[in-house]
Amino acid sequence: MELTVYTSKPYTIRIERGCLQKTGSFCRELFPKSIRTVIVSDSHVFPLYGESVLSSLQEAGFAADSFVFPAGEEHKQLSTFENILLFLAEKRLTRTDFIIALGGGVTGDMAGFAAACYLRGIPFVQIPTSLLAQVDSSVGGKTAVDLPQGKNLVGAFHQPSLVLIDPDTLSTLPPKWFADGMGEVIKYGCIRSEELFSLLEAENFSQNMEEILYRCVDIKRKVVEHDEFDTGERMLLNFGHTLGHALEKLHGFSGLSHGAAVGIGMVMITKAGEKAGLTAPGTADRIASLLHKFGLPASDTVSLPELLDATGSDKKSAGSSIRIILLRSVGESFIQEMDREEFLRFCGVEN
Ligand SMILES: NC(=O)c1ccc[n+]([C@@H]2O[C@H](COP(=O)([O-])OP(=O)(O)OC[C@H]3O[C@@H](n4cnc5c(N)ncnc54)[C@H](O)[C@@H]3O)[C@@H](O)[C@H]2O)c1
Repeated sequence: MELTVYTSKPYTIRIERGCLQKTGSFCRELFPKSIRTVIVSDSHVFPLYGESVLSSLQEAGFAADSFVFPAGEEHKQLSTFENILLFLAEKRLTRTDFIIALGGGVTGDMAGFAAACYLRGIPFVQIPTSLLAQVDSSVGGKTAVDLPQGKNLVGAFHQPSLVLIDPDTLSTLPPKWFADGMGEVIKYGCIRSEELFSLLEAENFSQNMEEILYRCVDIKRKVVEHDEFDTGERMLLNFGHTLGHALEKLHGFSGLSHGAAVGIGMVMITKAGEKAGLTAPGTADRIASLLHKFGLPASDTVSLPELLDATGSDKKSAGSSIRIILLRSVGESFIQEMDREEFLRFCGVEN
């Protein structure tokens, strides 16, 4: 399956079992004049797939090297980023060469940012291997590293030249990370596609994994095409995320995975939507059942008003309007603007 993303610089997303082994020939077609490439990968993914990508590139005539960093979000930081840049310079990559990001979202974000900055920008290819990276972070061109003050605080918009999604890589993904990515997959169903949501509800969902990936990527593609630089419609992708981030903060960023927090956020905001008569009754329960199916929680010990109170969100943005993402029903989302008082009433906060 193939998709083209028509952003400022169009690119192809290929979803195909085993496509990872053909990386070299896809890249040769795309970069006929390139001589060198560097694979950026982490210490979990490179031992699994690095050699196969490396040899495919070498067979296609590229001088290919690899830069491997220790796996984990804590390494998505400026010092790793600097080491990648130093490695690219040491290997004398030029602007006709390219980088390959082989791994999850951490790898893709950091390798993409290195590609955006090295020599003021060189091309890069995404080979996402986690579910989250396949359905979300590899598409859309957002690249970044974290700072001690917060996540993704330094980065750039830099679209990849090609995205190769090999569903077979999911077979080695630890269940915890599979469930985490499922949070985002369910989100796509919620905001744009009841059909996708039903595919996930079906007993045999795993047989439809390629189609599920395709539908998710297609939704992200459409949203990104309409709003490449995240100034409007792309907000829909944040469904459940504002409350999710507040929950992550409350749990100290380690007690609750991102997917779990987003899942709870989706259910919380949908319940409030139902109470306000903006969302079809039963929608939140349907989302909660699907989250449970994939081992994700659908509620937390704190209520929505308590969450706003604990994170100070009830005191922020006085006077200004707040835009929240709501569902009319599964598959249909919209942006609702409210002033602060309306928002607090909507969330059940007495004031
Ligand atoms: N750029 C964007 O638009 C965007 C969107 C969402 C998230 N993100 C970023 O993505 C990151 C999270 O991504 P993630 O969840 O993929 O984290 P990750 O890259 O840390 O991958 C999760 C874990 O799974 C391992 N792994 C990945 N693929 C594997 C495979 N096939 N087999 C075995 N192990 C594998 C990794 O080594 C890691 O330990 C965050 O930094 C987040 O900010 C970016």
